[in-house]
Amino acid sequence: MGSKNGCGCCSCLCGCLFSCLLSLIFQILFTLLIILALAGFIFWLIFRPNEVKFHVTDASLTQFNFSTGDNNLHYNLALNVSVRNPNKRIGIYYDRIEANAYYQGQRFDTETLTPFYQGHKNTTVLSPVFQGQRLLTLGSGDVSKFDSEKTDGTFGVSLRLNLRIRAKLGWIKIGHFKPKIKCGLKVPLKSNGTLSAAAFETTKCDFDL
Ligand SMILES: *[C@@H]1O[C@H](CO)[C@@H](O)[C@H](O)[C@H]1NC(C)=O
Ligand SMILES: *[C@@H]1O[C@H](CO)[C@@H](O)[C@H](O)[C@H]1NC(C)=O
Ligand SMILES: *[C@@H]1O[C@H](CO)[C@@H](O)[C@H](O)[C@H]1NC(C)=O
Ligand SMILES: *[C@@H]1O[C@H](CO)[C@@H](O)[C@H](O)[C@H]1NC(C)=O
Repeated sequence: MGSKNGCGCCSCLCGCLFSCLLSLIFQILFTLLIILALAGFIFWLIFRPNEVKFHVTDASLTQFNFSTGDNNLHYNLALNVSVRNPNKRIGIYYDRIEANAYYQGQRFDTETLTPFYQGHKNTTVLSPVFQGQRLLTLGSGDVSKFDSEKTDGTFGVSLRLNLRIRAKLGWIKIGHFKPKIKCGLKVPLKSNGTLSAAAFETTKCDFDL
């Protein structure tokens, strides 16, 4: 009897240990799942359609000169990019903002902009300025495209923003997310203070996934 009882007690103890361990594992898995779901939910809140919006509201191009002699592009381009966070609860830390300017698929300049925090329902205007010269390897087709754009007075330039952000919801901060934003622009050249084509129109940017 006594020995039987002892054995029963032992197996009871082992069973209890086993079930305790099992429930601990389940609790850990469950917590991980909740955290992942929360991160996914916040990512969705920010990047679902019609949430954070990027628009290029103004562009000033005072020099855009490619010479086939030395294959150098001389450029001076100033942009205003408005960033709108329409969310009621989520604030966004823009920890890294890298602005890249491209012409015919080739990057000609990169500017790193000052990081900032954007509260909810707020709009921030970024003003990257690209100025300098860069060696570009344009094929003959690209050069003739340049020539025709020069005749038109409007150049097709694209802006790409590589971001690293964190989201803030109450006291919770979640990140990093690394969205990429792409804006295809038609920028009129302003030579000697006068526009050579129609004025720049506000352009909406897209997420580049
Ligand atoms: C951008 O915004 C600033 C301040 O509102 C303004 O002075 C400037 O003319 C705008 N345009 C460009 C191309 O920077
Ligand atoms: C364009 O570049 C060529 C060669 O570098 C130079 O002679 C010319 O003055 C430049 N034009 C402008 C408007 O910068
Ligand atoms: C937007 O953020 C700026 C800087 O943090 C702040 O000065 C401004 O009051 C905010 N605007 C709104 C509408 O919350
Ligand atoms: C630029 O504009 C000024 C005054 O508006 C004028 O005197 C000058 O001749 C112009 N230069 C060129 C190269 O068109």
